[in-house]
Amino acid sequence: MKKNLLVLIVGLILTFNACKVSSQSNKSPQQEKNIEQKVDSVLALMTLEEKVGQMLQYNGSWDVTGPATGTTNEKKLERLKKGLVGSMLNVVSVKHTREAQRLIMENSRLKIPLIFGYDVIHGYQTMFPVPLGETASWDMNLAERTAAAAARETAASGVHWTFAPMMDVSRDARWGRIMEGAGEDPFLNAEIAVARINGFQGSDLANEKTIAACAKHFAGYGFAEAGRDYNTVNIGIHELHNTILPPFKAAAKAGVATFMNSFNEIDGVPATSSSYLQRELLKQDWNWNGFIVSDWGSISEMIPHGIAKNKKEAALLAVKGGSDMDMEGGAYESSLISLVEEGKVSEELIDDSVKRILRVKFQLGLFDDPYKYCDESFENSEVYSDANQQLALEAAKKSIVLLKNENNILPIQDKVKSIAVIGPLADDKDSPLGNWRAQAVKNSGVSVLEGIKKHAPNSIKVTYAEGTKLSAGERNFLSPLTINENDTSGFAEAKELAENSDLVILVVGEDAFQSGEGRSQTNIGFLGVQDELMKEIQEVNKNVVMVLMNGRPMDLTWSNQHIPAIVETWFLGSQHGNAVGEILFGKYNPSGKLPVSFPRNVGQEPLYYNQKSTGRPNENSEVTYSHYTDAGRDALFPFGFGLSYTNFEYGKIKLSDDSFSASEEIKASIEVRNTGKMAGEEVVQLYIRDLFASITRPIKELKGFEKISLQPGESKTVSFTIDAELLSYFGRDKKWVTDPGKFHLFIGPNSRDLQQVEFQYK
Ligand code: BGC
Repeated sequence: MKKNLLVLIVGLILTFNACKVSSQSNKSPQQEKNIEQKVDSVLALMTLEEKVGQMLQYNGSWDVTGPATGTTNEKKLERLKKGLVGSMLNVVSVKHTREAQRLIMENSRLKIPLIFGYDVIHGYQTMFPVPLGETASWDMNLAERTAAAAARETAASGVHWTFAPMMDVSRDARWGRIMEGAGEDPFLNAEIAVARINGFQGSDLANEKTIAACAKHFAGYGFAEAGRDYNTVNIGIHELHNTILPPFKAAAKAGVATFMNSFNEIDGVPATSSSYLQRELLKQDWNWNGFIVSDWGSISEMIPHGIAKNKKEAALLAVKGGSDMDMEGGAYESSLISLVEEGKVSEELIDDSVKRILRVKFQLGLFDDPYKYCDESFENSEVYSDANQQLALEAAKKSIVLLKNENNILPIQDKVKSIAVIGPLADDKDSPLGNWRAQAVKNSGVSVLEGIKKHAPNSIKVTYAEGTKLSAGERNFLSPLTINENDTSGFAEAKELAENSDLVILVVGEDAFQSGEGRSQTNIGFLGVQDELMKEIQEVNKNVVMVLMNGRPMDLTWSNQHIPAIVETWFLGSQHGNAVGEILFGKYNPSGKLPVSFPRNVGQEPLYYNQKSTGRPNENSEVTYSHYTDAGRDALFPFGFGLSYTNFEYGKIKLSDDSFSASEEIKASIEVRNTGKMAGEEVVQLYIRDLFASITRPIKELKGFEKISLQPGESKTVSFTIDAELLSYFGRDKKWVTDPGKFHLFIGPNSRDLQQVEFQYK
């Protein structure tokens, strides 16, 4: 056995160092009652030590996403065998999860199965677009299907639980983790969070093809001051409720199995110890009965935060604050038992956490069969299957946003006979996989160059030059990024190709590891010598299509002035290049819309469309109004924006009535016609403004959208229902209210180009 343990440890280290990586229930009341009875009967058998054990989560590779706890491997193994650990993260593959589970099942007294968690953020081995990119599809059915496919691959690898979706509203391009979420809008974040949760969890957690989801990071993490990761968050109670919490509330309502809290403080209180967030709101008001895992070491991080002198104080604050499981932090392990024995923490609090954890394990069916996810044949057939690759291609195509297309330079026209593909990211097969790539195999993405070669007609000659190397050295989750600041060695070759080609496709932007955790930047332009490269190319050939790869909004001011076509492709996953190829050659008509504003320069950040009016909005004033003297205050490319190869004409907004009261509703409808020559999809967007309220309200807020598909000449009428709930907000009395009075209603293709009508709520 000893030898087996050694093999396991070595295996885990080898495997995992390589990667970093009441709610609505679908069970009948009787099934829920049965689960509750089973939870109670297990709890009744447990010692205090075993209960606290359930509240610990160990990492399988000891030091992956943050500083290690100091618990030695030997100690971890010993505790595993005694059944004094509830969960592990970063243990993947049937082989390894089975071995770790066996440690518990064959040695421990009560044989309570482990729950294995992992960061499956945009795919397990098949990579789908990074979450920000996929949100640009505004296709909720697609998001549900990619999450379901990721769940199947994950479950097939023995893992029960993903730490996703991230639903942190973020308005700051400097924050590296903006790429992991759904952008700046609470409504869109909530919609896609629910779609992803439904995809991961399916209709039954006990089904071995579904996994538990995790609503993270609760809460406010995306509002880190100045976009610097882990930084202080200062938001008022109204902003918290109206902007940050809606996706979390929707997730709780949708029955998400778990929550993760966040590293940040809010107004002086680290979220990990916030009994307001975790106990009062989530567990009490929202009546949610899953469990909350801390973020990596976030309980112990209350020491450097300066509110706990040691791990014991940190554990006390966290458990009282409602954190149920300590992820790799060592605080619960070292202190919870003595805190209970000293009477500082009641055993009821511990029982509540343990029941929550056991409940999820029962829901997953782990007590019926702890090895139920350990099926090698399913692992072999599901992971990286052809069907999942097809889905990855569909998702990638739908996530692309066409930002500019002067003189319809795209799709590439028949007269083009030669194309020079230029840029440091053009033949990069790794960056398409993005950051947080779970078990993706290095360099397994289809590069843009490969996609162009595959989709270009034979009549077109395709050549390639890298121009410059963007990054030098190691590229992975934890390695610091090294950018080549003066590599112009490939400029001459690139210029020559550009000069001798009909069209240039410039593939530039960010390395995959420029965004993600700990990847905040003050510069959101093109790093390295990409600017110089672009300028030199543009001097010799004006027919340039820019294909952007990036995980955050970038400063595109120069490009917008000088480059006729700009295609936003994010990091699209395994099939990146094929999706780009289909778009460039008109095999798919772009339909994505930005989930986040693109600024005119970094100084505008944080920038978002749903701003407040301020007391001095008036643009006609000479100086003393709310603006910048050196740049506009609006976005270069606004939230919701994206072009198509066809044109959509909007009719006039029709309201079924121009006033309504509490028990009533009205409908707003609009006809949209495809007046171009190509079939296409359009995202019709509804925004609302409450003109006078008990607190200041945004100048517009997304309140509905529908993605429609139209053949040339075809038209469809899109309708939205407006009721009191849609208009409600968390007001001055700290309650959700709907104000009687005037509202503006807007419909259009993006947050800027909108038609406006007025109605009255009585
Ligand atoms: C991140 C979480 C992640 C966890 C486990 C942390 O550093 O903030 O989002 O789920 O690590 O990998």
